[in-house]
Amino acid sequence: MSESTPVRRRTIVNKHEISDKRMNDQKTQSQYQPYKDAAWGFINHWYPALFSEELPDQHVEGIQICGVPILLRRSNGRIYAVKDQCVHRGVRLSAKPTCFNETSIACWYHGFNFDLETGVLNNIVANPDSTLIGTTGITTYPVEEVGGMIFVFVREDDFPLDDVPPLHHDLPVRFPESGERFPHPLWPSAPSILDEGAVALGMHRTGQSNWRIACENGFDNAHILVHKDNTIVHALNWVLPLGILPTSDDAITLIEDEDGPKGQMQWLFTDRWKPVLENKDLGLKIENVNGRFYRTSVVLPGVLMVENWPEEHVVQYEWYVPITDDMYEYWEVLVRVCKTDEDRKKFKYRFDHVYKQLCLEGFNDCDLYAREAMEEFYADGTGWDNEQLVETDISPVTWRKLTSRWNRGIAKPGKGVTNATKTSSIRMRRLAEGKAPGYFVEKIDDLNKH
Ligand code: FES
Ligand SMILES: [Fe+2]
Repeated sequence: MSESTPVRRRTIVNKHEISDKRMNDQKTQSQYQPYKDAAWGFINHWYPALFSEELPDQHVEGIQICGVPILLRRSNGRIYAVKDQCVHRGVRLSAKPTCFNETSIACWYHGFNFDLETGVLNNIVANPDSTLIGTTGITTYPVEEVGGMIFVFVREDDFPLDDVPPLHHDLPVRFPESGERFPHPLWPSAPSILDEGAVALGMHRTGQSNWRIACENGFDNAHILVHKDNTIVHALNWVLPLGILPTSDDAITLIEDEDGPKGQMQWLFTDRWKPVLENKDLGLKIENVNGRFYRTSVVLPGVLMVENWPEEHVVQYEWYVPITDDMYEYWEVLVRVCKTDEDRKKFKYRFDHVYKQLCLEGFNDCDLYAREAMEEFYADGTGWDNEQLVETDISPVTWRKLTSRWNRGIAKPGKGVTNATKTSSIRMRRLAEGKAPGYFVEKIDDLNKH
């Protein structure tokens, strides 16, 4: 090197820093801080708890939503839901259901007895004169049963019952009422689970990721790539684009009615979104054989509606019900209005033999593993700051801002509940026994069988 050679300083930008060009710069992120705080979900909302057939008469079941343990009992044609945590020493009442009459539930351990309607402690088996009786109790939760599904309003202990909104505030927009506002020329009005004669067929299972990751996947317009090899796509010659790009400012319409759900409608398969059919540089091209048109919308507390899917006159609903901050119950439900028994049978046959295997399992299995693949990046909280979102991610960014404004409460971390402590010896033992952490309570009778 000659002495006259200038010293070169490094001027190359470090390409590994977080770019300011991302959709979610710090200013944008600050607009959805409440969403970032909602690791355990949004509370004071309606969530699906069980399918009707999962709760026969006199049956008791224990589940967990937003870190709240909930017991359901069907008794004399009525469904009750109460907090599934004894006020005495905290055991789950549903672990060993003990009922001495039609309107109460007793704790199997030391016999605290609770009224199912009010939650009040009204007796204690071996201490009927205790001064504690009548002065305490467990929280009760409003219940609705429609279309073969049981919904529970999961509330904070002090959320007034008088302020509980109707179920339809936490369900997708309805048609034909919304037909003028959200018209779509390519299919007839989407049915609703609230329609007369609505039949809901589906399944629910536990996913090992945060509910927000799961929910955002549901209406992510760039993720179609994960479905490109799915059997149903090829069997029915569907054409899915490589992705869908927003082309106008009104690609998404906010749903913020006074007396209705809060969410967003994405105008897919209209001129506001452009399907991407080719990527020349990568040598990818979609041949136009047979379009499969659909539209997604999502409302609080995380309910997806896929219109015109997987066939005409059917709609797919999905819920991503928070269990803890690292698990959610994934609900996939197809709804169709069946006017006759014959219609009902046909729909059930098609569900049992085609759609369950090829859609809810085959197709949506890919969504489940994609969400789980994202989980570790977000699990310690840093992912929300470090992700670098692009134009197609307008959907989650809009959703995060909207839910930050309209949620009815941010769930606090579950207290004294299953899976709240990730490294508890019980969680570890269950894992060692080959049982994944999940949604349902572990019944003592089942444990005693071996
Ligand atoms: S823990 Fe329920 S009565 Fe003691
Ligand atoms: Fe998907």
